Amino acid sequence: MALPSSRCSFLLVFSAICWFSSLLPASAASNFNQDFLITWGDGRAKILNNGGLLTLSLDRASGSGFQSKNEYLFGKIDMHIKLVPGNSAGTVTAYYLSSKGSTWDEIDFEFLGNLSGDPYILHTNVFSQGKGNREQQFYLWFDPTTDFHTYSILWNPRHIIFSVDGTPIRKFKNLESIGVPFPKNQPMRIYSSLWNADDWATRGGLVKTDWTHAPFTASYRNFNANACVWSSGKSSCGSSSTPTNNAWLSQELDAAGEQRLKWVQKNYMIYNYCSDAKRFSQGYPPECNMS
Ligand SMILES: *[C@@H]1O[C@H](CO)[C@@H](O)[C@H](O)[C@H]1NC(C)=O
Repeated sequence: MALPSSRCSFLLVFSAICWFSSLLPASAASNFNQDFLITWGDGRAKILNNGGLLTLSLDRASGSGFQSKNEYLFGKIDMHIKLVPGNSAGTVTAYYLSSKGSTWDEIDFEFLGNLSGDPYILHTNVFSQGKGNREQQFYLWFDPTTDFHTYSILWNPRHIIFSVDGTPIRKFKNLESIGVPFPKNQPMRIYSSLWNADDWATRGGLVKTDWTHAPFTASYRNFNANACVWSSGKSSCGSSSTPTNNAWLSQELDAAGEQRLKWVQKNYMIYNYCSDAKRFSQGYPPECNMS
């Protein structure tokens, strides 16, 4: 089967014998005008600085959101985010990948705001084929509102790794071998939104949004996708900056990465579905017995 040199079929990606030549249109720094669409919020979401910065805002009337123009099937995707500062209690900033349909796949970061000086909760989840219920929650080891920090998703056929500033915080392994569905067939878009969730977000809905602090604003910059872009039933892998570097497709955590992951899980994880005995009194999901 002949493949055009600039394309790589999805199957070949798995066998890792694809080589890539000048795959994607050369583009320099990340540009939100090029890669994203503002999808809701009636002017509350803004792309600024010639595409270098995106802001979402929330007021009493509405939140706002954006999505990627591209769909991706695997990727190493980084975004620098600065969360709503000050009294952000009741607000939720969601940043996630999702496919469509009733048996969708989804990889979630959600940031639950808090009163000034109280910690944000970083909530994570993984859905495969429409089924989630795999929450892990963390505090962060820094204040995520004073500066931009890098939130990354490495999604390859072996696992999904969530990282913060390069430190892995969660790994969801491909355990199809023991019957756990793994997201690998449905292309996903990147989505983000800022909305009011004071019915549940801060201490389970106890703390309400203080609208005298509105509008609430979260900021985004330096998006980078080393990813396989899905288009017309085919996937093209590469990145704008380094088109031939697809090492991420088989990337594993090294020993130091595993150590960091353990450190975060030991010191910063505040909820793990795999240790919620009450919730899973009938038995834990199979992936929980693997680590
Ligand atoms: C907010 O702060 C309180 C008090 O420190 C803490 O219990 C809670 O987990 C924090 N986060 C959220 C989202 O409620």
